[in-house]
Amino acid sequence: MTVQDTAVRPFDEATLAEAAALILAGQPVAVPTETVYGLAADATNGEAVARIYAAKGRPSFNPLIVHVPDFAAAEALGAFDERARELAQRHWPGPLTLVVPLRAGAPVAPLVTAGLPTVALRVPAHPVMQALLRTTGRPLAAPSANASGRISPTRAEHVLASLGGRVPLILDGGATERGLESTIVAVGRGGLRLLRPGPVQVPDAEQVTGGPVHAPGMLASHYAPTKPVRLNATERQAGEWLIGFGPIAGDDTLSAAGSLEEAAANLFAALHHADAQPVDAIAVASVPDHELGRAINDRLRRAAADKE
Ligand code: TXA
Ligand code: MG
Repeated sequence: MTVQDTAVRPFDEATLAEAAALILAGQPVAVPTETVYGLAADATNGEAVARIYAAKGRPSFNPLIVHVPDFAAAEALGAFDERARELAQRHWPGPLTLVVPLRAGAPVAPLVTAGLPTVALRVPAHPVMQALLRTTGRPLAAPSANASGRISPTRAEHVLASLGGRVPLILDGGATERGLESTIVAVGRGGLRLLRPGPVQVPDAEQVTGGPVHAPGMLASHYAPTKPVRLNATERQAGEWLIGFGPIAGDDTLSAAGSLEEAAANLFAALHHADAQPVDAIAVASVPDHELGRAINDRLRRAAADKE
């Protein structure tokens, strides 16, 4: 891992060209999506993908999500049955990732799928990621643009704090709209399995999160601040920074109005902010456990899980 200068640039024609040139030269570039910032590299180039792992300091080779500009590009890489096609048509472009069988001969570096016979595909809606996909003409592998095990970034400054000196360029597209990583659904012979709850609700997917079957990268403490996190807090205790919700006003409040959409968009920024405070611990008010609230609570449980 070489240390290098990290440029943070607002997105425009010139920085898009610069980012595309870096991608085609096999370098990773941090780029906003509608969910979180991703660290994107050419999915057809194994060395480029290896640089993602090096920059993140990932201990093992977890499979990565491959981003493509549209359904036709997704079909070139993965095999879609009727149910997968229906989900794609309903939710793409958008924050849904589909795990489907990898097509034989698809130009995806083996490191991207970690040798699995399946591939995770997503058509993102964000104009910056869309522009990068179309300008490079390459499928882009992109995990969240944070050091391994840390909170996902929803702003360019989060990426800089985590990966500064380890990536050449961060495209700054402002705060991300959704704030949580995409919903991941595996489409297999056994039906639909929810591997990660997220912004898209798929009611007929079998719940497997927290169970024995999970996305390989979903370690219990995968979204961890460095400070201990206490859940279901109703008030601030000594030495704590309180993140509020609804009627419980905190030092930061996810949504005073009790909106789950607003809370999701603010969650990771609030955790990043709390982690940077001169306090001993972080307390978080409870969030209703339905719809988007289930994805929020999934991330909160991981933030609170003991770190091994
Ligand atoms: O919103 C998002 O999904 C963001 C943005 C950048 O698109 N990306 C993201 O990637 O969250 P990452 O690498 O942090 O999470 C990818 C998850 C991991 O838990 C990984 O194990 C799972 O997807 N995954 C990837 N390929 C898989 C496969 N073939 N089978 C099962 N799980 C897979
Ligand atoms: Mg991640």
